[in-house]
Amino acid sequence: MKYVIGVDLGTSAVKILLVNETGEVVQEISKDYALIQERTGYSEQDPKAWVDQTVAGLSHLLQGFQGDTEDIEGISFSGQMHGLVLLDENNEVLRNAILWNDTRTSAQCRQIYDVIGEERLLSITKNPALEGFTLPKLLWVKEHEPEIYEKAKTFVLPKDYLRYKLTGKLHMDFSDAAGTLLLDIGEKVWSKEICDLLGIDPALCPPLVDSYEKTGSISPEIAVSTGLSTSTQVFAGGADNACGAIGSGILEEGKTLCSIGTSGVVLSYESGNDKDFEGKVHYFNHGAPEAYYTMGVTLAAGYSLSWFRNVFAKDESFEELVKEAGTVPPGSNGLLFTPYVAGERTPHADAAIRASFIGMDSSHERKDFVRAVMEGITFSLNESLAIFRGSGKQIETIVATGGGTKNEDWLQMQADIFNARIVKLSSEQGPGMGAAMLAAYGCGWFDSLKECADEFLKVEKEFIPNVDNAEMYKELFNLYQEVYGQTKSLNEKLVNYRK
Ligand code: XUL
Repeated sequence: MKYVIGVDLGTSAVKILLVNETGEVVQEISKDYALIQERTGYSEQDPKAWVDQTVAGLSHLLQGFQGDTEDIEGISFSGQMHGLVLLDENNEVLRNAILWNDTRTSAQCRQIYDVIGEERLLSITKNPALEGFTLPKLLWVKEHEPEIYEKAKTFVLPKDYLRYKLTGKLHMDFSDAAGTLLLDIGEKVWSKEICDLLGIDPALCPPLVDSYEKTGSISPEIAVSTGLSTSTQVFAGGADNACGAIGSGILEEGKTLCSIGTSGVVLSYESGNDKDFEGKVHYFNHGAPEAYYTMGVTLAAGYSLSWFRNVFAKDESFEELVKEAGTVPPGSNGLLFTPYVAGERTPHADAAIRASFIGMDSSHERKDFVRAVMEGITFSLNESLAIFRGSGKQIETIVATGGGTKNEDWLQMQADIFNARIVKLSSEQGPGMGAAMLAAYGCGWFDSLKECADEFLKVEKEFIPNVDNAEMYKELFNLYQEVYGQTKSLNEKLVNYRK
């Protein structure tokens, strides 16, 4: 039997999957690491922790592996997007990575619009200037830490740094480069125009490759520390959302995905880059050959629920909390929640907005709050779906992935709020599976990623909208959409009171 490994370098942990030729996950290891949040809006990680924990995870996995290590033919990666890793001339890390959910860069986003112009930026990168993206972070370091910026020779994204430490070779793939705001996503080249206008040396940008391209082999040192063979081929991998799409079979027109993890994502396959969403949703290169995807992001999806649990129900497990919410009727007895505990991305790119519970009543119990949080997260994702549908896209079936699939009530809630059939796959590994599939395709096991998906991915269960609930949620969604506008200026005034 032959194997591939998919490494999913997430925000809270690295998840490593050993997958065999039939797509079965035969081993799974997870190792976590800390977020460093020194001030409100700041979110950093130590790149060394990613490498140490991945090496520890691989070595753990190899200890339990009964077969011949030569049969592990390939390894590839899925990575949290946008995080800035700055390297010096010896490829040593210059500072902590500034992550996708760090929102300190509002001034740099304004600078990008002032210098490049919003329309021009959109025509090159297809995306707006958002705090989470990499370019504003690069400009922040240039302005606030010039002594570090001067020493920088290259910037990479999280999984690129990890891959570099495993192979000694530096690259970035198109799907992840698309989230930097420095890539001309149609031409698939770094934008010299953006670099020049903002005074960034284009030499900082690493060589670009396709997600399924071979970028090297496991280095002798890593082979010793993990137990992997130096003959294991290393493939570039992709952005976690591109890999999540591959791992859920979003590989042809009409396919749509909803993933609820720390952040929440609604993503749809696009065969070209010619549609115009005016920057309202993201438009990125896919990990599949010559394809794209559009995507809306709820910044704090599962994160809103873990925030609620940590603050109000620390002693309960997620399963218990979510189960009790299942006994509350749809609509949470008149309690409405907007999931803006860390600001919002789609459709309101707003770092200052914060969450609200609207309609709290003395009859409400904790379970009403939990259900309202789950509904608010799902309403937020529905706003992105409404934008896709507004462009004429037919969305009748949605593949659900991420932690949000663990609870059937939440899957039914998605069917009712999205008014679409929800499909749960038997392997809900999403990004890690997508990374493994990139390795399997790269190794030549299949002629296309689609062929690989047909072999690896199986439907486990489907959820059909309940007509009455869908009708009620349609009305409630209209109220939900009003909350942002009604709370925006209050939150702008509250900014000064945050730590
Ligand atoms: C996408 C984004 C997040 C991260 C999470 O634009 O910022 O989905 O990739 O890992």
